[in-house]
Amino acid sequence: MHVLSSIVGACTLGALALPTTASPTRRAAKPSYVAHPDRVDAVKAAFQRSWDGYYAHAFPHDSLKPISNTYSDDRNGWGASAVDALSTAIVMGNTGAVIQILEHVQKINFDVAVGDISLFETTIRYLGGMLSGYDLLTTPDALSADLKTLYTNNRTLVDGLVTQAENLANNLMVAFDTPTGIPDNTLQFSPPQITNSTSNSIATIGTLVLEWTRLSDLTGNGQYAEKSQKGESYLLNPQPKALAEPFPGLIGTNVNISNGQFLDGNGGWVGGDDSFYEYLIKMYIYDPVRFASYKDRWVLAVESSMAHLASHPSSRPDLTFLAMFSGTAPRFISQHLACFDAGNIILGGLVLGKQRYIDFGLELAASCHDTYTATVTGIGPETFSWKDNGTLLPLNGSTNGGPPTDQVDFYNKSGFWINDGQYILRPEVIESFYYAYRATGDTKYQDWAWNAFLAINKTCAAGSGYSSVTNVQAENGGTFQDFQESFWFAEVLKYSFLIQTDDTVYQVQADNSGKFVYNTECHPVRLSTSYGKP
Ligand SMILES: *[C@@H]1O[C@H](CO)[C@@H](O)[C@H](O)[C@H]1NC(C)=O
Ligand SMILES: *[C@@H]1O[C@H](CO)[C@@H](O)[C@H](O)[C@H]1NC(C)=O
Ligand SMILES: *[C@@H]1O[C@H](CO)[C@@H](O)[C@H](O)[C@H]1NC(C)=O
Ligand SMILES: *[C@@H]1O[C@H](CO)[C@@H](O)[C@H](O)[C@H]1NC(C)=O
Ligand SMILES: *[C@@H]1O[C@H](CO)[C@@H](O)[C@H](O)[C@H]1NC(C)=O
Ligand SMILES: *[C@@H]1O[C@H](CO)[C@@H](O)[C@H](O)[C@H]1NC(C)=O
Ligand SMILES: *[C@@H]1O[C@H](CO)[C@@H](O)[C@H](O)[C@H]1NC(C)=O
Repeated sequence: MHVLSSIVGACTLGALALPTTASPTRRAAKPSYVAHPDRVDAVKAAFQRSWDGYYAHAFPHDSLKPISNTYSDDRNGWGASAVDALSTAIVMGNTGAVIQILEHVQKINFDVAVGDISLFETTIRYLGGMLSGYDLLTTPDALSADLKTLYTNNRTLVDGLVTQAENLANNLMVAFDTPTGIPDNTLQFSPPQITNSTSNSIATIGTLVLEWTRLSDLTGNGQYAEKSQKGESYLLNPQPKALAEPFPGLIGTNVNISNGQFLDGNGGWVGGDDSFYEYLIKMYIYDPVRFASYKDRWVLAVESSMAHLASHPSSRPDLTFLAMFSGTAPRFISQHLACFDAGNIILGGLVLGKQRYIDFGLELAASCHDTYTATVTGIGPETFSWKDNGTLLPLNGSTNGGPPTDQVDFYNKSGFWINDGQYILRPEVIESFYYAYRATGDTKYQDWAWNAFLAINKTCAAGSGYSSVTNVQAENGGTFQDFQESFWFAEVLKYSFLIQTDDTVYQVQADNSGKFVYNTECHPVRLSTSYGKP
């Protein structure tokens, strides 16, 4: 769609980088990018405001409650917001916050935990945050002058990130002590033990490999990679096939930990499944030699999604959303979370040199943009539904009855109706604008991201920070929930910053010359050294 003209156009002007034996993928031309220093400063100011509130009222606990000016230890009490904020503080060149966080990380005692531990959340926020901090701080091109000096003079603090990642992973390792090697997602510490869960979902099994493989590559201890990849193996070859894989590459959600068999054939690109698909292509980017088979599964999933899940709302056939599925039956419901699909499909299109994927991803990104512009606050809802226009199912065969009476007009105009109007500081829509911009250089996506940031900044700024809200369809967002998620620091603020700032070494590169891949929490991870080696 939009990218076609811009990439093909640039190709005829720019130097065409020839594929070499070193690079397994075709190189598209690199678009030109524009920096907006005024917007960058506004996003940095929002980071500082959130950080100051957190540091004053919640540090070293996990999350700020910005209205009551107190804290929550919702992520085991290791300072989740601090660790999740590290890579954002580094890319923003916020030396003060970086030092506060590095000093904190050295003091965390990962042998004790407040509450049950989620292997998935701990991996993406804490392991991802610490490993990314290390990868960025050891990449001189990624650093401001101040941070270069910090790195040179304080090497121990930086190395301590990997030591602490190992300490944490060594305690988490017990998760894989199951009959199949499929991890138990819920753990307890002191001493580390599993809670004997009977099943686990593909998102929580399949969103460990990047962080755990990176930890092995940095430490030389192969166990982390092996264990996470063993769990993943059940998802790459799902059984029993007839139930587990309703469409090639698209698989069910819950897996029996005792025997590795799938318990259902329901899924989509939604919560519970989402980042399993995301990591298939990201592992290939991390190391195309070791993870070629992951890429093959991603391609199958995307082809099946384009063929069997791409749905156009009956009132707005110009929009495209991906349906969920129960077996082979489509279900016309989606989530803010699922809007990452656009960016992930664009990223895969860039890496594999497939314009069809890029165009399809841009279509999805534009439709997620509409979930923002349609509401009173200018922010998209947590969950929404629509009726298919007859592409996937006959109109009378839709499993959706249609919008509730008070949303008939809204559906007619907007192409979706709202099931859950919360906004909890989620990043996925801005994330997809980021990939759309990096792929095309079209400044429209910067404007979309800026407008989304302004709407969030206006609606969610509350007390000493930013808060989730109950209703994006109410003036002022309804009610503040008095909670600032750690992913506000890691993701919303980072994508909002990256899309407006200079073209740096950690940015996603349309011509596949990039050095980093972002974990699902937007922590940039350096690619495996085998990538691009002759
Ligand atoms: C970093 O190193 C410098 C010079 O050795 C030292 O003065 C400073 O205290 C160190 N900073 C931290 C945060 O440890
Ligand atoms: C899980 O089962 C094991 C073996 O039966 C037991 O030792 C352990 O205490 C159980 N974990 C919990 C949290 O109950
Ligand atoms: C999971 O697998 C075990 C071992 O084969 C079996 O006993 C159990 O019934 C299975 N659970 C479900 C819900 O199918
Ligand atoms: C549904 O919308 C798509 C995209 O606008 C269009 O190509 C298709 O013809 C429509 N299908 C029906 C049955 O109207
Ligand atoms: C849908 O419409 C078709 C054609 O009019 C009809 O044959 C079919 O029975 C209808 N299906 C349902 C579920 O009403
Ligand atoms: C939807 O909007 C169109 C154009 O404004 C109008 O003709 C149609 O009656 C509306 N449909 C419903 C169900 O309100
Ligand atoms: C963002 O919100 C803060 C807090 O209300 C405000 O001070 C700031 O001016 C806002 N930024 C922009 C660019 O509107």
